[in-house]
Amino acid sequence: MYYLDSKIENLYRIFDQNERKGYLRLDLNENPSGLPQDFINNVLKEVDSRFVGQYPETLHFTEVLANYLGTDISHLCLVNGSAEGIRYIIQAFTSPEGRVVGVVPSYFMFQVYSEMYGRNFVKVPYNEDLTMDVKNIIAELTEDTQLLILLNPNNPMGNVYSEEEFERIMKVANEKQITVLIDEAYHYFYPGTFINYALNHEHVFVTRTFSKLFSLAGCRLGYVAGWPEGVKMVQKLCTPHNTNAFAMLFAEKILETPGVLQNLIDKFNEGRKYLIDQLDANGYAHKGEAGNFIFIKTKTDAEKIVARMKAEKKILIKSYPNVGEFGTCLRVSIGEKKCMEQFVKALLEIDKTIE
Ligand SMILES: Cc1ncc(COP(=O)(O)O)c(C=O)c1O
Repeated sequence: MYYLDSKIENLYRIFDQNERKGYLRLDLNENPSGLPQDFINNVLKEVDSRFVGQYPETLHFTEVLANYLGTDISHLCLVNGSAEGIRYIIQAFTSPEGRVVGVVPSYFMFQVYSEMYGRNFVKVPYNEDLTMDVKNIIAELTEDTQLLILLNPNNPMGNVYSEEEFERIMKVANEKQITVLIDEAYHYFYPGTFINYALNHEHVFVTRTFSKLFSLAGCRLGYVAGWPEGVKMVQKLCTPHNTNAFAMLFAEKILETPGVLQNLIDKFNEGRKYLIDQLDANGYAHKGEAGNFIFIKTKTDAEKIVARMKAEKKILIKSYPNVGEFGTCLRVSIGEKKCMEQFVKALLEIDKTIE
C-alpha cells in the first residue's frame, strides 16, 4: 500500500533560495565577497583526479579541527552544514510529540525539523523592545521538556547570553535533565562561546558552521561538539561520507594559513563599522549586537524596499514581520565595506521614494 507521511506532506519549506547569481547577496548571512580568489586558486592546486574521484576522508580533518579547538576527535562530529547536525540532535534526543523549547524569531529550521519529526516546538518570544528575558526561557523548562535550543548569538536578533544568564538556564536544564543545544553559527563574529560546556558536560551540544565567517557556504561543512556518547549518536544518523572533500580541504587551509581568518574578521569589522556609522548618520534605528547581520527599521515600507532593491539594484535582502517595536524591518547581511557602500547608497535612494 502506498504511504506518505502526513508530517512531510504538510511540512512548510522554502525552495526559492536559488537563482541568486549576479545579485549582491545580503539575504542569507553569507560572506558576499567570499574568500580571496588567490587563496582559492592556491588551494585548488592540490586537487587532482584521485582527490575528486575518491570518497572524502573525514578523519584527517577531524583531527585538524580537534587540534585547533584543543579537544580530541571523540568530541566532534563533522556534518554537511550545521543544519544537518541540528536535525540529528532533534531526531536522536527527542521523542514523537516531545517538547522542544526555542526562542522566536530565530533560525527557522529548528521549527521545521521539529515538525518533520512530529515534535512539539514551544516558542519563547522576544520582548517588545527586542530583548530576551531568560526568566521566560526558564519558565518553559518543564519536567517533560526534552531539548532546549539556544543561539549565541541568535539569528536574526543578534542578541547573546552572558555567562551568568547561561549558568541560570543550565542549572534548571540540568535539574530537569534537558539536553541543551547551543547554535554558534555566528561564532567568530562574536568571540564569546559556550563550547567548553559542550566539551565538559554531558547533554550539552554546540553546533558550528564553516558557512559564515569561513565563507564556505557553497561547500557545506559544519560540526557538532559534545560529549563522546552524544556525539556518537549524531554520527550514527549521518549518511556515509556526509562531508565534502573540498569543504574539508578549504577549511583546513583556512585554519592553517596564517592571517586568512584575521583578514576575514578585519574586512568584516570595517564593513560593519561603515554600515553602522552610515545608519546612525542617516537616522536609522538598527539592532544587531553580534553576528554578521543587522535589523534596520526603515522609514517607508520594508517589503517594498526589498522588492525594489532586487528589481532595480540587484541587491538581495530580507524583510521580517512583527519584530517587536521595529514592526516589519529589514535584515541585512554585513559584508566588506564595498558591499556595504553599495547597499547604503541603494537604501538611501529607495527609502525616500516609496509612498
Ligand atoms: C543560526 C543558524 N544556524 C545554522 C545555520 C545553518 O548553517 P549551515 O547549515 O550552512 O552550516 C544558519 C544559516 O543561516 C543559521 O543562521
